[in-house]
Amino acid sequence: MARISLRPLDEADFLRLIGWIDSREALIQWAGPTQFTFPLTSDQLHAYLRGCAGDYPERLAYTALTDDRVVCGHIELGAINRENETASLCRVLVAPDARGRGLSLPMVQEVLRIGFSDLHLRRIELRVYGFNTAAIRCYESAGFVREGMLRKSQKVGQQYWDSVLMAILREEWEHY
Ligand SMILES: CC(C)(COP(=O)(O)OP(=O)(O)OC[C@H]1O[C@@H](n2cnc3c(N)ncnc32)[C@H](O)[C@@H]1OP(=O)(O)O)[C@@H](O)C(=O)NCCC(=O)NCCS
Repeated sequence: MARISLRPLDEADFLRLIGWIDSREALIQWAGPTQFTFPLTSDQLHAYLRGCAGDYPERLAYTALTDDRVVCGHIELGAINRENETASLCRVLVAPDARGRGLSLPMVQEVLRIGFSDLHLRRIELRVYGFNTAAIRCYESAGFVREGMLRKSQKVGQQYWDSVLMAILREEWEHY
């Protein structure tokens, strides 16, 4: 399997990330409808990065690097609730020119390790649009199971996208 490492997102990553998101559809597919608007800007990313600050941040956002230290993606553990021991895997993105090389799974696995091993969470969930076969295959390979479908939950232009709810529990991760 491909090897990757994660380092915390910082300002120096903003322009690259902005360049990866070239349409409103791509932005919603990547990040959902709430945090950002198209076009993505450094101001939006500054506000996003503020959520990573402090001793108990609500999110941990990472830039992914390949074995040879080339930046290849972005990933987040968000909605971190230490009291409830839950979080969401969000905003998974492999750089457009790095897709199809199996980089998404090790990125997700590393975030699961952080969530379950470092933060001692009990459940990590995610939502993914139903047409996003590559993402769903990656999440299934990482041990996520489907818990439900939110039909036509997102309007994008004249289309309605279904969302799939997936989650993995600590004990499933430990025995995977
Ligand atoms: C979703 C995403 C992260 C997956 O990364 P990727 O580099 O494209 O995919 P990978 O090479 O890691 O492959 C993951 C799985 O999907 C499969 N796959 C890859 N491209 C595919 C495609 N176009 N159609 C169907 N399956 C595909 C792979 O075969 C692999 O499955 P397998 O392990 O069972 O063989 C990436 O496509 C991306 O950044 N997309 C845009 C943002 C996005 O949709 N993020 C997810 C938000 S929930």
